[in-house]
Amino acid sequence: MKHLLKLMDLSREEILSILNLADQLKYERKNGVIGEYLKGKKLGMIFQKASTRTRVSFETGMYELGGYALFLSNRDLQIGRGEPVEDTARVLSRYLDGIMIRTFEQKEVEDLAAYGSIPVINGLTDYCHPCQVLADLMTVRERKGSFKGLKMCFIGDGNNMANSLMVGAVKTNMSFAIACPKGYEPDAELVNWAKNEGDFTMTESVEEAAKDADVIVTDVWASMGQEEEKKKREEKFKGYQINETLMKAAKKDAMVLHCLPAHRGEEITADIFEDHADEIFEEAENRLHAQKAVLCKLLK
Ligand code: CP
Ligand code: NVA
Repeated sequence: MKHLLKLMDLSREEILSILNLADQLKYERKNGVIGEYLKGKKLGMIFQKASTRTRVSFETGMYELGGYALFLSNRDLQIGRGEPVEDTARVLSRYLDGIMIRTFEQKEVEDLAAYGSIPVINGLTDYCHPCQVLADLMTVRERKGSFKGLKMCFIGDGNNMANSLMVGAVKTNMSFAIACPKGYEPDAELVNWAKNEGDFTMTESVEEAAKDADVIVTDVWASMGQEEEKKKREEKFKGYQINETLMKAAKKDAMVLHCLPAHRGEEITADIFEDHADEIFEEAENRLHAQKAVLCKLLK
C-alpha cells in the first residue's frame, strides 16, 4: 500500500489490517501508551473544502504519533491561483513525508500521487471518502463483533459516502442495500462491480433497503459544492430519511451511522439522531484511530 486514494485500491486483507491496527492504537491511547510511531514525520494537509473532523483528527493524530501536520488552505496556497497540481506535488514531496488532500475532483488526488514521490491520502473528493468509511467499518466491527452476516443499508444520495461504503461493505463481506431516488445513484462502474462481487441491492424504496438491516447509514442530501442545488434536492430526497418508521423495517438492534455534519429533519430526524448519538460520535472518534493506522501504514 503506497497511497490511500480510494478503497477500491485496497484488498480485503489491507482493509482488515488497517482496522486491526486502528483497534490497537485506540486501546493504547485509552491506556495512556504514547506510541510515537511517526516521530519527526511531517504531513501536509491541503483543504479545498471545509472540514471539522478530518482536519482535527489528522492534525491531532499526527501530533499523537510524534509527528507534525501543516494545514494548507487553498486560499493561501498557489494552487488556489492556478499552480498545477503536478508542480505542487513535486515541490511538496521535497519538504514533507505525506500529503492529505480534500478536494473536488478525484483526478486531482490521483495526479498528486502520480507526480509526487510521497504517500497521498484522500481526505474526501466528490467521488469518495475512504478515511470516513474505514472509521465506519471500525465502528461496525467494534459494536457488532464481526462483519459476518451483516446487512448495511444506505439511505439517500449516491454520493462520495455511498460510493465508499458500498466498496467497504462488499470488501468486508457485508451485504449492502442502497435506497436512492432515480438520477441520484452511486457511480455506475462501482454499481456494476458491487453487483458482480457482492450481495448488492439498489432500489428507490427505503423500506426495501432497510428491511432487516443491521447498520443504517445516511448522509446529507446536498454535499459540499452542491449548495445551489439545495432546494431541488430537498424536493427529490423527501422520504429518504432515517426516521421511526424506517427503523421499524430494520433489525431491532440496528445501529445508525452518520459521517456528520448532520441536518436534523432532512436525512435523519432529531429523535433517531439522539437515540443513536453514542454510535455516531464513536464513529467520529474512530476517524482519529483509523487515520492514525493509515498514517502508520503509509509513513512509517
Ligand atoms: N465526516 C467528515 O469528513 O467531516 P468533516 O467534513 O468535518 O471533515
Ligand atoms: N457527502 C458529504 C460528506 C461530508 C463529510 C460532502 O461531500 O459534503
